Amino acid sequence: MSSLTPTIILFCIGVILLLGAMWISLLLKQRQKFKQLIDFAIEGMVVSQKGHVIEINDQALKIFGGNDKQEILGKPMLDFVAPASKALVQAQSTLNTDMYECVLLRKDGTPFPALVRGSIVEGFGKTMRVSAVIDLSELKEAQYALQTLNGNLEIQVQAQIEKNRQQEMMLFQQSRHAQMGEMISMIAHQWRQPLNVLSLLAQNIVFKYKLQKLDERVMDEFKEDSMRQILQMSKTIDDFRDFFKPDKSIKIFDINQQLAHAVEMVRPIVAAHGIELSFQGENGLKVESFPNEFGQSIINILNNAKDVLLESCGEFTKQITVEAKRGENNTVVITIEDNGGGIDEMVMPYIFEPYFSTKGAKHGTGLGLYMTKIIIEEHMHGRISVVNGAEGAKFEIVLQGLA
Ligand SMILES: Nc1ncnc2c1ncn2[C@@H]1O[C@H](COP(=O)(O)OP(=O)(O)O)[C@@H](O)[C@H]1O
Ligand SMILES: [Mg+2]
Repeated sequence: MSSLTPTIILFCIGVILLLGAMWISLLLKQRQKFKQLIDFAIEGMVVSQKGHVIEINDQALKIFGGNDKQEILGKPMLDFVAPASKALVQAQSTLNTDMYECVLLRKDGTPFPALVRGSIVEGFGKTMRVSAVIDLSELKEAQYALQTLNGNLEIQVQAQIEKNRQQEMMLFQQSRHAQMGEMISMIAHQWRQPLNVLSLLAQNIVFKYKLQKLDERVMDEFKEDSMRQILQMSKTIDDFRDFFKPDKSIKIFDINQQLAHAVEMVRPIVAAHGIELSFQGENGLKVESFPNEFGQSIINILNNAKDVLLESCGEFTKQITVEAKRGENNTVVITIEDNGGGIDEMVMPYIFEPYFSTKGAKHGTGLGLYMTKIIIEEHMHGRISVVNGAEGAKFEIVLQGLA
């Protein structure tokens, strides 16, 4: 019995040592597995115990800007938290937390925004906290860059809009200059007749003087006749000035009245070239828009028809016809057709482009149809189109009419 006792004691110690070794080896294996697990994670993983770092993975080392894990292991967790976030991180440290954003510090003290999620883990006889850390600085920078880009983009878009507006204004200005030239030539034609009458009246009065038939009655008649002509000339200028005055506001106007006005303005000039100009309009066509701009765009189309007819040779009656009628869905449809041979199909796609002209710099600005399209489509919200009819170009304008 007495010799057995040490053997039993030795056996027991052996068993205990063996069990201890097995336990330690199990613990080491578990720890190894745990380490593998956190190394495997994509996020930065920090394991802490009693507020101190006991393990981190490579990703966390990279996030905190360390070269060697030993620089970080054993340090208080709060050393890596920015002052502004310390209270928040501390409050979360004893809980299993949802993700929260805070500001952490790298090893050199640089703050960075981070997304953190923590969990309490029991293991190896210890209570540990495992925290996953995502560095948000690149994301935030990208977000900021995107915001700046959006802001810049908006500025650039605004700048481009402004540039386009300026360009449109410049084109408007240029086309107005061209129109002023056309207006003067139209006034000159309108003045031709009263000037002829005035010259006849002057010759007549000299003649009467020579015949000694110049009395008060003749003088009064001369005054009245010449004043009538002069007033007509003055009225022509006023009419043109009113017609070409920029519209200040939208008005309800009669389409026929405005078309007739435009037609009468170009009539003397086309008549002087033997071109017939006819106009027919259905009664009561009213629209609410810019009357003068509308009239000016009609003059642009009429002048183009006149230009093409002046160029065309051959024995035929040169004609321009203008028509206005009611279309479907309460629209007003205006057609202007000439028999000048039409638009070359090759140039058809470009005629509404600014500066496109087949007339050479001396005779064309290439702005007439561009401005006409802007007026009809952008200012008046209508549509303008053109086709080649049997004998020449046929422009069609569709506007929304008033009931
Ligand atoms: N009625 C028409 N018949 C034939 N071609 C036309 C007619 N109207 C316009 N065009 C063509 O469209 C081009 C552009 O016209 P427009 O913009 O008024 O500029 P411009 O009259 O200064 O040339 C003209 O140069 C011409 O080639
Ligand atoms: Mg033109």
